[in-house]
Parts: sequence; C-alpha cells; structure tokens
Amino acid sequence: MPKAAVANAVGSPLEIVDIDVADPKAGEIRIQMGASGVCHSDLSVVNGVLPIALPAILGHEGAGTITQLGEGVDNLSIGDHVVVSWVPQCGACYYCEHDQGELCEAGSMASMSGGLLDMTSRASRDGVPISVMAASGTFAEEAVIPAIGAVKIDPSIPLTAGALIGCGVLTGFGAAVNTASIRKGDTVAVIGCGGVGLNVIQGAKHAGAERIIAVDMVDGKLQTAQKFGATDLVNPSTDGDAVAKVMELSGGRGADVAFEVIGLGATIEQALQMTRRGGQAVIVGVPSFDTMLTINPAMDLLVSEKQIRGCWYGGSNVHRDVPMLAGLYQSGELMLDELMSAQISLDQVNEALDNMGSGEIARSVIVY
Ligand code: APR
Ligand code: ZN
Ligand code: ZN
Repeated sequence: MPKAAVANAVGSPLEIVDIDVADPKAGEIRIQMGASGVCHSDLSVVNGVLPIALPAILGHEGAGTITQLGEGVDNLSIGDHVVVSWVPQCGACYYCEHDQGELCEAGSMASMSGGLLDMTSRASRDGVPISVMAASGTFAEEAVIPAIGAVKIDPSIPLTAGALIGCGVLTGFGAAVNTASIRKGDTVAVIGCGGVGLNVIQGAKHAGAERIIAVDMVDGKLQTAQKFGATDLVNPSTDGDAVAKVMELSGGRGADVAFEVIGLGATIEQALQMTRRGGQAVIVGVPSFDTMLTINPAMDLLVSEKQIRGCWYGGSNVHRDVPMLAGLYQSGELMLDELMSAQISLDQVNEALDNMGSGEIARSVIVY
C-alpha cells in the first residue's frame, strides 16, 4: 500500500498513513511520485490560512512517472516523466483560450474542491475518502491526477528539479516574466525570499531587471537571494523600514515593480508604497482569506497611476511554460539544484514544515 502524509485537523502535524488509490477514471492518470517540494502553501493548510476539506493529502509541487492511464488519455504514455500542475489546464475553456490557463475553468474548480475534475478524490483509507490538495496531493508515493494536470518532461531532467518547477518556479519565475511588465534596466523589489521569492529574483534577472532589491527578515535568506541575482539586500529588522530603504536605493522614485512574496497585508501595503509612480505592485504571496488592505485610491492608485496586480500560479500556461523552464534548466540558465537545501524522506515532512522559517532552508524536497 502506498504511504501518504495526511492533514487530519488544522494545527495538527501530518500523519503518515497507508492509503488506497483507486484506478484512474477516464481522463486521469496514475503516477508514482518521484519527488515533492515542501511549499509554504502546504504550511498554510496546516495552520488554517488556506482552507481545504480535511482529511487531505497535502503537497502540490511534485513530479513522477506515469504507471497507468485512464480511458481516453492518448497524449501521454506509461513511463513518461511528468510535472504535476496544481491547476489542471484544459486548453479549451474561455480562460485557456485567453492565455490565462492559470484560471482554467475546469482546473480551478478541481483545484479548490479537494478532488479531481469531477471533484472527487481517488484516495481513501479504510474505505473513507481523503481529499487531495490542489488536484494533486504530492505528499504520497502514488497519486491519481487529471491528465490535463500533467506536463511531460524529458527523462534526463531529475524529478527533484521537475518537482520544483511545479510550484515555486512556475509561480515565482512566472510572476516576473508573465505577470509583471519588467523592462531592461528596471529596478525591482522582492519582499520575501523563500522558495518562491528566489524564483521571482531569477525571473526578474532573466527579464532584464538591472537592480534587484531583496527584502527579508532573515540574513541567511538574503545571502541566498544574492546568489540568485539580487543586487541589494535589505533586512528590515536591522536596516530599518523597508519602504524607506527601497526609496533610498531607487533615487527616491521607488521600484518599477515590487513583488510581495509572503502573503501578509502589511507587506502587500509596503509593496504598493515602494512602487514608483506608474509602476506595478504584484501580489504573489497568499494571504489568509480575511486579510483586508488599506489603500488610498486617490494617492495610491489614481494620481500616482500605480497598478496593483494579483498573480496566481505565475500567470502560467503550464503546457507552454514547464517545457520552457526545463529547457532553461538544461542550458544552465535556471538555478534549480541550488533551491534544494535538503532532500528528505516522507517521514520527515513535519520537520520540513517546522523548519520553513529558518535561514538555511530554501526548499526541502521529499524524494520517494
Ligand atoms: N518581512 C520580510 N520578510 C518576511 C516577513 C516580513 N514581515 N515575514 C516573512 N518573511 C520572509 C521569510 O523569512 C521567508 O524567507 O518571507 C519568506 C517566505 O518564504 P517561505 O516561507 O519559503 O515561503 P514560499 O514557499 O516562498 O511561499 C511564499 O508564496 O505561494 C505563496 O503560499 C505561499 O504565501 C506563500 C508565499
Ligand atoms: Zn506551492
Ligand atoms: Zn481551461
């Protein structure tokens, strides 16, 4: 029987249990998980910030090998290596056709439902169904997922690297490359330099940003940020107010683009304040669903012509962007191995969630 890490209640550690995984239905595939990153959104489910139906198998940043095909799946084969997309993307709905696959109608419903496209999960324990996080549930040795939520990658790419592409890289790199309008020579600020923020930094560099100001409370994270392309480092706990610091570093004008990659109301407001007139503040971090902002529409939006943009899943078309990112990794232009601070076993997932705040860990990756 495959093992999985299950959240039973908000605030409790994940339980490692044996599960049953039923056969894939039409349009679904079974994968043997090869690797799964541990992302802050997993922690957000554990601490109740992200609500999902419990019990649930967490994990949404994974890659694995196809072991079984459901009826009608003809674009994938047994043995294929795939990256799991936590928003399955159909390619045919209104949003997919408008180049907003991250908002795919079928995929978004599934992703929020705790199940697959029909909103039911194939996982169970002693006959009791268990939900899966974001149509994926990658904290499990085996998973059944929608075929439209799988993107084939070259087998020469390690599944650990593939897993990281599945959330942190698509979200962070995509925020800089797809959502923001970064121009060559721009100054950008990135608040929060965890697994996702580091990818915003390397995406911003790729998009041509010249000055990349990294903001984080932990010095170890800032040092890693520098390796990923940050040119200036700001630690608000020792350097003082982040907004004042970014203004100072940008000639008093503010950043062309400021990214918030934590998910806190206060830092989202800071991102908008440190954005220059006519610039963009991009919200990447996921705040609790009751977070509200204080914005002065006259000064913060109208007269200053600032934009505030939400960014879901890096504005990614996964079927286009996963192969592109895998190619950048292979040509040495995308740092993925450096993101992986620790390789762990499924049993160590609670430790990895606890360690999330420490300076040394960018991403822990479960290897199956
Ligand atoms: N000011 C500056 N930095 C902060 C602050 C703060 N007030 N609070 C936290 N941080 C830093 C942490 O030190 C850490 O480096 O923010 C970073 C968050 O990184 P991770 O915990 O690794 O989170 P990550 O997986 O990168 O996700 C970030 O994006 O996808 C969403 O749900 C995810 O909201 C989360 C965000
Ligand atoms: Zn994630
Ligand atoms: Zn769609």
